[in-house]
Amino acid sequence: MSAANPPRPLDPAVLVAREKEDVLVGDEIVRHRLRSRVLHWTVSVTFFGCLLTGMPVWTPVFGWMANLFGGLSVCRVLHPWLGLAFFVSVVVMTMDWQSEMKLDRSKKGWWGPALFHYLKWELEDQNAGKYNEGQKFYFWTVGLGALGLLVSGLVMWFPASFAALVRELAFVLHDIAFILFAVAVVFHIYLSTSAEPGTFRSMTRGTVTRKWARLHHPRWFREVTGEDARRR
Ligand code: HEM
Repeated sequence: MSAANPPRPLDPAVLVAREKEDVLVGDEIVRHRLRSRVLHWTVSVTFFGCLLTGMPVWTPVFGWMANLFGGLSVCRVLHPWLGLAFFVSVVVMTMDWQSEMKLDRSKKGWWGPALFHYLKWELEDQNAGKYNEGQKFYFWTVGLGALGLLVSGLVMWFPASFAALVRELAFVLHDIAFILFAVAVVFHIYLSTSAEPGTFRSMTRGTVTRKWARLHHPRWFREVTGEDARRR
């Protein structure tokens, strides 16, 4: 590094977002501190690792995916270990975020038909805190789904230890769970990127704009900034 080009000081919002969240820094609000982001991306990478190594084992239609890892036999070895890593990272993420993900009993109807209005941009929950009920539901479903995949996966990993009926049930459970998971993740990626511009950066840079927070999570916006979310 030459003296003519001294290193640029790190952006204050990025620095704060290493340790803290739910704080206002200039015009940005820190939504996910570094620890939460690392956990989220560990879950994501291990999930896709499981998907890509599991699908060629599931059916020859996806056999071409095995080439990414050096062949089908490599996938068979890698898949259960990646599954274990996925489960452990989901457990750590669940412990880290569970206090913010308590379902609100007063909002029972929110993720019935209202969820579809929300997906069509017809409804914004004026009382949405840091996470809306759809996000909380997704969070707990990920935990439950990971447990289902682990239990059924262990049976398939050590088939000799289980009765034939248990093995058959495990196959069905594993397949249903991973298909539902894959569909849910497609929705999750859509909602976190193109459906709600400005959301993705919360998992990369760690911050969101005030405008984004006011629009999507008004109660959280009020709590963090002390300002009225209805003021435009
Ligand atoms: C490349 C794919 C992915 C992208 C782009 C992505 C993006 C995001 C973003 C931006 C958030 C923060 C939302 C907010 O702050 O309001 C988030 C949260 C979350 N993500 Fe992901 N994610 C991906 C993959 C996954 C996978 C594979 C899982 C689990 C298997 C997962 C589980 C979660 C959970 C449980 C939350 C918290 C609840 C929620 O905000 O919906 N994500 N994700």
